[in-house]
Amino acid sequence: MSKRRHEELKQLIRRHDHAYHVLDAPEISDYDYDQLYAELIQLEKDQPELDTSDSPTQRVGSKPLDAFVKVQHRLPMLSLQNSYSPEDLLEFDARVKKFLRREDNVEYFCEPKFDGLAIELVYERGIFVRALTRGDGIVGEDVTSNIRTIRSIPLRLHAKKPPALLEVRGEVLMFKKDFAELNEQQQENGQATFANPRNAAAGTIRQLDSRIAAGRPLRFFAYALGAAEGASFQTQEEIGRRFQEYGFPVASGHSLLARSPEEVVDFYHRIDQERHQLPFDIDGIVVKVNSLSLQEDLGLVARSPRWATAAKFKPEQAQTVVEQIQVQVGRTGALTPVAIMTPVRVGGVTVTHATLHNQEEIQRKDVRVGDTVVIQRAGDVIPEIVSVIAGKRPEDSKPFEMPAHCPACGSPVRLLEGEVVTRCVNPLCIAVLKESLKHFAGRRAMNLEKIGDRLIETLVDEKQLTRYSDFYRLRREDLLSLDRQGEKSVDNILKSAESSKKTTLGRFVFALGIRFVGETTAKHLADHFLTIDRLREASEEELLEVPEIGPKVAKAIREWFDNPVLRREIDEMIELGVEIAAPKRSTDGALSGKSFVITGTLPVKRDEARDFIEKHGGKILSGVSSKLNYLVAGDDPGSKLDKAESLGVAVISWDDLQKMV
Ligand code: IVH
Repeated sequence: MSKRRHEELKQLIRRHDHAYHVLDAPEISDYDYDQLYAELIQLEKDQPELDTSDSPTQRVGSKPLDAFVKVQHRLPMLSLQNSYSPEDLLEFDARVKKFLRREDNVEYFCEPKFDGLAIELVYERGIFVRALTRGDGIVGEDVTSNIRTIRSIPLRLHAKKPPALLEVRGEVLMFKKDFAELNEQQQENGQATFANPRNAAAGTIRQLDSRIAAGRPLRFFAYALGAAEGASFQTQEEIGRRFQEYGFPVASGHSLLARSPEEVVDFYHRIDQERHQLPFDIDGIVVKVNSLSLQEDLGLVARSPRWATAAKFKPEQAQTVVEQIQVQVGRTGALTPVAIMTPVRVGGVTVTHATLHNQEEIQRKDVRVGDTVVIQRAGDVIPEIVSVIAGKRPEDSKPFEMPAHCPACGSPVRLLEGEVVTRCVNPLCIAVLKESLKHFAGRRAMNLEKIGDRLIETLVDEKQLTRYSDFYRLRREDLLSLDRQGEKSVDNILKSAESSKKTTLGRFVFALGIRFVGETTAKHLADHFLTIDRLREASEEELLEVPEIGPKVAKAIREWFDNPVLRREIDEMIELGVEIAAPKRSTDGALSGKSFVITGTLPVKRDEARDFIEKHGGKILSGVSSKLNYLVAGDDPGSKLDKAESLGVAVISWDDLQKMV
């Protein structure tokens, strides 16, 4: 009986993982999912004899390895010849035709060139058994335990009669927004930040401790076939389609079956235009002869196939001069050096600042004031210094050194063991206080709308703000005494303090700025404990029951709530009128059970629109698929609208949405 339930649970969770992580179209609430998952864990704990080899519980990572084992690929993993221009694509087409001795057009399957890490997944009788890196193309490293943690990778193929052997090749990468969040988290934890999503993905796969990989937001896209037994394929397009059926994410919305070289060139230009809108980094396109039998005829030259090529996009780089290196102090006391540069345009925006991450990073690149540097936009958003032009360095320049004292409060700074981030550890540091208050007041925290960063700095300098609860003690006459604050703006400040008092537990917990507790963790805590009273009394063991909370985070939360000064802060805020609502179960809103994607410019801010949908129980998805219920389209909606229309997804306006609730 329990064996049957075990199979059933594994299958259910597999289905929901696929719906959530691959299709981006969840079918049940997070809460219901967690219930299923908890039942599965309990069952496996009670009955250790159950087969867990393909169980979703195996995705959490396991004991660290001593080293990666080297394993030979059944078929070599080839590399591609790179070119940098669309003309090269025409030459490629000419070479293909010449070799095949034909004049009529050849079909090409075109895809983005993912900028991540190539991986081969091996499935035996439908079960995921191994993952290898490319290595030198002949021998790769066995990174199975890390890859198993990636939830968009099926642990069992979706197929009634799976092939005896199937090797799926593809790219492991990180989405740009996940990368930005990870870096923020790394910074908070005192760990090295990554220069770009590619490095973050590669660094994660190289970890010997798969529990680290389990906590990182890796993704996978399948694009090529390795060895196969018991399955055959005719075209590259079919490979993509069948991979999708087996449960893998593929770049389906961004691929093209081109019927002429001109269509290939058009595809190159189109993807070059669209690439900034993609959720992940790409660095070009890959063009493959569609027919596998023609691929065989074409064969190889050296280590590259004659039947495929890559055309890269020109990197968006520019040169400028570092005028200054400023050291900023963050909410956790972390000191971050930032290069202030002569403004320069890269990839359509003007760039003046680039983070230099930490001392180690600066030393590695040896960036100095006065240097001429090459910059580019990493992850297409965050500016990054790629290199220093040695020949243009002023003669009298000196290497940068991290200050020994906090630039904000003057107390000595420390480099804690095992961390690369230098910190000001003075809990009363004025910069730490200012940053904590800004975080508290932030839009996604307590949303003290009319109290911006600049005003917070002034209020701290004027001693009107010394702690969180002071936001709710601000007095009209004190505010009026500030420079440049008239009746009207003072009214607005007081009004926004008043309306911020009505909040939710998730926002409140996030606002507190507890180490390691970001927005998602705060939401999980709120869903689990429902009231601040229950949360603040929770033991470390109880905290560990909450999704995504490990020992380190549980300890940090417990320590925070054990601090008598901070406990009093909470009581005082409540006395001052802060009302903390329990999280709504997503089943009681007017939009509950419905999924939404937003595109184009709405009459309100994006965040506001998202909050509105979530508040009424709707779920926000990032991409359009046939499972999506509604596309909310504003002005200049772009390609999502076309896709929604072609899939028959309902398209509504902001007004329509308002009417629905
Ligand atoms: S197909 C013969 N498709 O490009 C190899 N490769 O230089 C056929 N890559 O290491 C590979 N996106 O990491 C293919 N859509 C895509 C790709 C892709 C990125 C990378 C892959 C490989 C490298 C080849």
